[in-house]
Amino acid sequence: MNALYFSANFANLENKIAMILLDGKKISAEIKAELKKEIEKIKASGGKIPHLAAILVGNDGASETYVKSKVKSCQEVGFHSTLLRLKADISEAALLAEIQKMNQNPEIDGFIVQLPLPKHISENKIIENIAPEKDVDGFHPINIGRMTKNLPAYIPATPFGILQLLERYQIETTSKHCVVVGRSHIVGSPISILMARNAPIGNCTVTLCHSKTKDLSYFTQKADILIVALGKPEFIEAYMVKDGAVVVDVGITRLPDENSAKGYKIVGDVKFEEVAPKCSYITPVPGGVGPMTVVSLLQNTLFAAKKQVYLPNPF
Ligand code: GUN
Repeated sequence: MNALYFSANFANLENKIAMILLDGKKISAEIKAELKKEIEKIKASGGKIPHLAAILVGNDGASETYVKSKVKSCQEVGFHSTLLRLKADISEAALLAEIQKMNQNPEIDGFIVQLPLPKHISENKIIENIAPEKDVDGFHPINIGRMTKNLPAYIPATPFGILQLLERYQIETTSKHCVVVGRSHIVGSPISILMARNAPIGNCTVTLCHSKTKDLSYFTQKADILIVALGKPEFIEAYMVKDGAVVVDVGITRLPDENSAKGYKIVGDVKFEEVAPKCSYITPVPGGVGPMTVVSLLQNTLFAAKKQVYLPNPF
């Protein structure tokens, strides 16, 4: 009896060990090395060095960290970068004027406006005024529309990063049930569209859940691929996840932590310790989706510099 009991437990343990980390830190380093090589070739042939600009309004701590990481990554791969810092009380009209300058500056290939913006500024109005061919965040309605129709377009950086992680780990997506939790314009909505597209990383049956979904765990338990972009720290618990699922955790929340020198720790939307043993693959936080977002933005900027993304002039 005892032996059987132990061997059953042991089999269970082996299952747990089969889990593979989707290592965004490693994959993003590989992609950065590829980008660096390409930039060296462009330099040698006298081509245009990609130039990414970022506009940061105000001094939100998290936005500050993200933008700094984007600028640092540009330097690592040999891109030019510009960071335009603007005061939190800048008027919408003055911000629009800065956007027009970037649209018209031939030196800048692509630029982003870091979100969220202060409440007095309309995010939609700002995004709609970015020239679609320089919108390397892929947030402009033209890029979203083209992406939805499976036409060449900039794919928003976080969803693009998730697709690349799935691709590099050769995760089969066709005919799988992908459940997305969160419907933001930055992640949840575009990744749900992308996972359903008729494309090599796609072809899923997609369920999009959000804050008004009734009985959320009913859906998450049915996911072969579970993508969580909710912004609620450690929200997804083990009972909500199917055995063998692929779990992609997009959450990045700073929680106070007196044991850390920084005074905070970064946690995802998934209770990693208890969920990971049930998974076939899972992203860690930090070191999963976060670094993939940054590197995907660089890839979009390279496309922009090479004018590789066909976009009609809407103006
Ligand atoms: N805020 C959080 N994520 C993003 C992003 O991918 N792009 C921009 N511009 N702002 C963000």
